[in-house]
Amino acid sequence: MGTGKTTDPKRPPRNAEHVAIIMDGNGRWATSRGWPRLVGHRRGAERVREIVRACPDLGIRWLTVYAFSTENWKRSTEEVLGLMAIFARYIEREADRLSIEGVRLRFIGDRTRLDPKLQKMMAGIEARTMGGTRLNLTVAINYGGRDEIARAVRSIARDVAEGRLAPEAVTEAVFAARLDTADLPDPDLVIRTSGETRTSNFLPWQAAYAEYEFSPTLWPDFGAQELAAIVGQFGNRERRFGGVAGA
Ligand code: IPE
Ligand code: IPE
Ligand code: MG
Repeated sequence: MGTGKTTDPKRPPRNAEHVAIIMDGNGRWATSRGWPRLVGHRRGAERVREIVRACPDLGIRWLTVYAFSTENWKRSTEEVLGLMAIFARYIEREADRLSIEGVRLRFIGDRTRLDPKLQKMMAGIEARTMGGTRLNLTVAINYGGRDEIARAVRSIARDVAEGRLAPEAVTEAVFAARLDTADLPDPDLVIRTSGETRTSNFLPWQAAYAEYEFSPTLWPDFGAQELAAIVGQFGNRERRFGGVAGA
């Protein structure tokens, strides 16, 4: 079990050390060119590669990307299966590069609903990249914030019912340690591409005090330069965490 560490309001990090990205707009990027949506998803996966490579030089130690939500099962079978194939190929192709580059890869989300073969690949690359210390990359697959919270509550309720945990002992830290993100710090900055200004069930607990940035760029066009510009501006924001300016 992890530490369930949450951001200490008294000592906010100056840089955006943990950036979380809602990678949106792949479908529109493809259809506006008259191409199938899956072409956009493929191009989107290539973008992840570029963004991952850019992070360490920007001072980003943690990168969490939203790849597939618990709501995305509503899409056509063709699109869902195509996305699953893209995830499998990403794991296959990136394993060597990630471990060489010191990137530790983790997954969050309910993986029990995924193809057992994919689950095995996910566990394999997590184990293989466990020693990486340059960047912590977390990919959210079949992730939904409400689903994650419901699973955490079930696990706590089980312990309370069986007498292992007193209700009074359920603090914010105890709860956070039951989330999929138990080993991750809270995100400092959440970026959503494609012009939509909603969070779509992404990290509702963890991003309670995150800064948000909404970019009109469609994800397949989002590059390292734009990330650098957004992260640069982050340094100018004053994060008060409920306190008073300058105090
Ligand atoms: C984001 O792009 C990728 C996933 C949600 C899997 P979309 O597929 O949502 O692209 P748009 O929003 O339809 O353009
Ligand atoms: C959010 O994008 C999920 C991912 C980027 C994986 P969606 O395209 O699914 O979100 P909505 O439907 O616009 O809210
Ligand atoms: Mg979308």
